[in-house]
Amino acid sequence: MSKKNINLSSVKGTHDILPHEQFVWEKLRKGIRHVAEIYSFSRIDTPILENLDLFQRGVGEATDIVEKQMYTLTTKGGDKLVLRPEGTSAIARAYIQHGLSHMSQPLKVYYDGPFFRYEQPQAGRYRQFNQVGFEIIGGENDPIYDVQVMITALRLLESLKFKNISIHLNSIGCKACRAIYKKKLLNYYKNNKKEICKDCNRRMLDNPLRLLDCKDEHCEAVKKEAPSIIDDLCTPCRKHFKEVLEYAEELKLPYQIDPFIVRGLDYYNRTVFEFFVEIESADGEKTTSLALGGGGRYDYLFEILGHRNTPAIGMAFGMERIVEAIKACNINLLPRQKNKIFLIAIGIEAKKKGLSLIEEFAGSGINVSESIGKNSLGAQLKASDKEGASWALILGQKEVFKESVIIRDLKTGVQETVLLKKVVAEIKKRL
Ligand code: HAM
Repeated sequence: MSKKNINLSSVKGTHDILPHEQFVWEKLRKGIRHVAEIYSFSRIDTPILENLDLFQRGVGEATDIVEKQMYTLTTKGGDKLVLRPEGTSAIARAYIQHGLSHMSQPLKVYYDGPFFRYEQPQAGRYRQFNQVGFEIIGGENDPIYDVQVMITALRLLESLKFKNISIHLNSIGCKACRAIYKKKLLNYYKNNKKEICKDCNRRMLDNPLRLLDCKDEHCEAVKKEAPSIIDDLCTPCRKHFKEVLEYAEELKLPYQIDPFIVRGLDYYNRTVFEFFVEIESADGEKTTSLALGGGGRYDYLFEILGHRNTPAIGMAFGMERIVEAIKACNINLLPRQKNKIFLIAIGIEAKKKGLSLIEEFAGSGINVSESIGKNSLGAQLKASDKEGASWALILGQKEVFKESVIIRDLKTGVQETVLLKKVVAEIKKRL
């Protein structure tokens, strides 16, 4: 193929995370590990490829994810696979496959990694994106776990210095009370059929709860007067929700009840929630809400997948959304400290000695930068300047012969020669 024909852009809806952007991602990953440890979540990793029917069944045939957004492929052997669009179904699959119900319950797991959805790319919406998720599976169907998932997620955002966080909280009940509510909702929308968009007319037939999710301005107006599911919760669901609210009060979670949170995946029941942060415009005049993540209870998922009834609750954040919100909120996360020491070596013997010296420094916990592939002193000094190092260690033929090294203060230009065997101790004194 001629060079002219190669498309050198990343695939539509995917993006690179470049070296200078990595420090924000590293802070985020560090925050994830930290809160996971505090709240006793163990890491789980599942494959990127899964069987297609896992999500068809788990997420639901009438959802946007399954209807429109999955990257599917058929292997040479005829297996129908999918690039995972979300993590919860895959974790439920792993829980069942590996008999994780035999471990101490509930099982608390977390994950982060890439997910894939065929969506129209825009800010905060990609075709390959990363999620971090927390799941509590098994044990009792206790509202305390609902609040534990929310507090873990909240602490992660707080560790990244977010302020103005809000949790929009709702209950969508169980199969029984939801069926009653759906009828009521449908009746209401039938009376307003002419006011709503084409998509919502279709949703009336296959997924009425999703009517509450529509962002069309005419539908928003109709939605405002729609009946609220909370009024139709059955006694056990009402009790569960009341206890969630009591625990949330106790922990002072920044929540607000939002009867329009229904979530886009079919496996949810009872508690559902979404996390938002408020972002101020540059002139401080306007604030917009950015949705960072969401989750809820999914007590039916295990039965849908053919396993026994297993209570579970979880949530996931979009990691790109968090990174974009960090930028939009002007949160100042300090980049990685650059290395203060830069090694310069001229000639093959000096390079050999230099490599050993880098190892010796690393053994003492000091990282040393270098540009040892360059030959001239000038080029290496220029590189040390770019790195912003404070001291250069210079090794030439003469130094190798005398088992010594020059320490050059890169700000003042003052140089001093010390014995190689003393250089680590000498640098430690200066750091
Ligand atoms: P979800 O709401 O579909 O839930 O996705 C969770 C988060 O992933 C979203 O709030 C958003 O921040 C991010 N996200 C989703 N799609 C995209 C996209 N195309 N581009 C960028 N970010 C995106 C779930 O996936 C559930 N599995 C969450 C859960 C865990 N429920 C229980 N446990």
